Amino acid sequence: MEENSLAAIASNSTRQEFKILSSQEVEISLNVNNLCYSLKLEPRVTLLDALREKLGLMGTKKACDRGECGACTVLINNRRINSCMTLAVMHIDAAITTIEGLAEDDKLHPLQTAFISHDAFQCGYCTSGQIVSAVGMILQEPPTSEAEIREKMSGNLCRCGAYPNIIAAIQDVLEEIENAAI
Ligand code: FES
Ligand code: FES
Repeated sequence: MEENSLAAIASNSTRQEFKILSSQEVEISLNVNNLCYSLKLEPRVTLLDALREKLGLMGTKKACDRGECGACTVLINNRRINSCMTLAVMHIDAAITTIEGLAEDDKLHPLQTAFISHDAFQCGYCTSGQIVSAVGMILQEPPTSEAEIREKMSGNLCRCGAYPNIIAAIQDVLEEIENAAI
């Protein structure tokens, strides 16, 4: 991120707006984690690069940068997407959620807590993508078996092979949801 590239022009406890000071080609606004950002960028900039390099949201990871690993997963209107494979300008006014937007104040999202309790990571590089992807999967349609979890999470690769613990963490949260519904 360029130094001094972000200038807060308005803020309160629930909403902030930023003006990006640069000489790029188009000016757009993005709604990320319930904050509205106004930024200037070239139309060819991916959503992933906009999040990381323009907004400083480094939790969304860049690995393959070609749609193969899922490390860059974010939610667009609660649906999962590889942010390296889509342009920022295509998501004006959509509700974008990144790993930074899952916790509420100091309270982690249940999937974040479950990943910690199940030690569902080693290097951690894939973890934000895994968690955001699992959140999107559950929001869309909770899986009903381990095989379904594996299939629906198959777009998120883990080079450390933490899959058994990742599955266990997701199963824990699904169980919580099921128990809460009884
Ligand atoms: S970095 Fe986007 S899918 Fe790998
Ligand atoms: S924890 Fe290292 S790549 Fe998944």
